[in-house]
Amino acid sequence: STDALIKRAKRVKEKLGDRLFIPGHHYQKDEVIQFADATGDSLQLAKMSSQMSQAEYIVFCGVHFMAETADMLTRADQTVVLPDMRAGCSMADMADIKQAERAWEKLTAQFGDTIIPLTYVNSTAEIKAFVAERGGATVTSSNAKKVLQWAFNQKERILFLPDQHLGRNTAYDLGIPLEQMTVWDPISETLSSSGEEDKRMILWKGHCSVHEMFTIEHVRQLRESEPERKILVHPECTFDVVQASDQSGSTSTIIKSVREAAPGTKWAIGTEMNLVERIRHEHPEQDIVSLNPNMCPCVTMNRIDLPHFVWSLERIEAGSANNTIRVDKDVSSKAVQAIERMFEISS
Ligand code: 13P
Ligand code: SF4
Repeated sequence: STDALIKRAKRVKEKLGDRLFIPGHHYQKDEVIQFADATGDSLQLAKMSSQMSQAEYIVFCGVHFMAETADMLTRADQTVVLPDMRAGCSMADMADIKQAERAWEKLTAQFGDTIIPLTYVNSTAEIKAFVAERGGATVTSSNAKKVLQWAFNQKERILFLPDQHLGRNTAYDLGIPLEQMTVWDPISETLSSSGEEDKRMILWKGHCSVHEMFTIEHVRQLRESEPERKILVHPECTFDVVQASDQSGSTSTIIKSVREAAPGTKWAIGTEMNLVERIRHEHPEQDIVSLNPNMCPCVTMNRIDLPHFVWSLERIEAGSANNTIRVDKDVSSKAVQAIERMFEISS
């Protein structure tokens, strides 16, 4: 039963004490978040990893790329565990290293030395190493503007992987018009438009399947039925949705905006369901709904559930941790440079 699982988790957590650290992303289920030592958005969780110095085991409640980052930013004698290896990210899977190398070959043949690559942290360690080797950095949704600005100070154009929406939304905020953006399709290995010389933003054709479920139609319906309701979305939503909304920002920005709003404020939030539900329960003084009334879960985030979590803790206790995340040393040493570059730029 759930009660029995909760008891088991509490017992191991108490017994291991400081030897164990449990970070949890805001999209995780309440049933595991209740055990988190710290919660955060992707940037906060990455920064935390480098500070978990006394923990021998880090049980990461989030998705695979986040656990990889935690492994890369911790010492070799610390072990990162992902309670369910199927907790991937479909967006991260949209940029494969071979595809990225092919794209770079073709794009540099066309544009010469005028491009710098950036990757959203929602990418594999190999993609992070790829951008590091070419002078680029990682980006999260809470520092994207700063990192893009930095990149535009280095080169004329950016190849942005793998989320076209975050890339487009952020570049537009920096004053780059849509006409100066184009999409790289890694399957056909072509750009979506001609007039390439003017292009400043080359967007990898990737997206988040959760955030694409919030549509302009949802925004229109809401504007008609409840014009006073504020629309707050994550920048992984499409350009038209972000433009039509009142505000956009990372998960921690979304939480902060609601926390700082006056009682009685009405919100429609466009992000993962677990977070929307958590904010709703934490703010009964406000009126909060999901922008998509059907609610949008991230199935891979949700793979980290109480049974997998308890299993991971008990395996650690037994001295045989399962599902350990170990990034190849060569890849890791490069990828870390891209992450540290991001920390520097955004600090
Ligand atoms: P942030 O928490 O950085 O906003 O990221 C959202 C997300 O989709 C993580 O997978
Ligand atoms: Fe990936 Fe989207 Fe899920 Fe975040 S919400 S882990 S970007 S699929």
